[in-house]
Amino acid sequence: MKPLIIANWKCNPETLKEAQELFNGIKKDIENKNVVICPPTIFLSSLICEGIKFGAQNCFSENKGAYTGEISPQMIKSIGCEYVIIGHSERRIIFNESNVDVSNKVIKAQQSGLIPIVCIGESKDQNTFEIIEEQIKDIDKDVLIAYEPLWAIGTGENASIEKVKEVRDFLKERKVLYGGSVNSQNAKDYLEITDGLLIGGASLNNEEFLKIIKTAY
Ligand code: 13P
Repeated sequence: MKPLIIANWKCNPETLKEAQELFNGIKKDIENKNVVICPPTIFLSSLICEGIKFGAQNCFSENKGAYTGEISPQMIKSIGCEYVIIGHSERRIIFNESNVDVSNKVIKAQQSGLIPIVCIGESKDQNTFEIIEEQIKDIDKDVLIAYEPLWAIGTGENASIEKVKEVRDFLKERKVLYGGSVNSQNAKDYLEITDGLLIGGASLNNEEFLKIIKTAY
């Protein structure tokens, strides 16, 4: 099985036109590959097409109802997405998402037929294993886990291979991806010890992103 390469565009780019340009620049190269594009939800419907896997960056924990502004797993599934990122550290920190929120979202996403990718990871002053134990304790064993230490996200300070191996071993039979300052120089090392990568900044640069994909294929 080829590793899973996930592009998390986060809240980028600013316009639909730019999103289409970014996507059109890689479309041919990622067709029928184990690559998932997670653009902002508002752009999904305009980008979704045959032969390419898509995911959302978040979802709500209910499928419908009086929840102004929320987007449900069933809605995401119905437009043709296969995946959803849940509990990214930016959501946990900026939008106060708790482990309970994450667990509720995962349950609903799975019921809706989406494949959740749950992000876990510690800050510099936290104990890695205490934190991730808490973060995964109510998460189904089949859910993909992305280990993204907070200090490695967008900093250029990627985690050591030894550290990622320790986390992978701690997570035992779970499927584990790594995320945090992945680039075309370090991708190969992580791919040797994980089930794939969750890529932020480098996924907004087509040349760099395609180099990473070439490493995996
Ligand atoms: P960077 O690749 O920009 O460090 O971001 C990682 C991330 O948060 C992906 O979800």
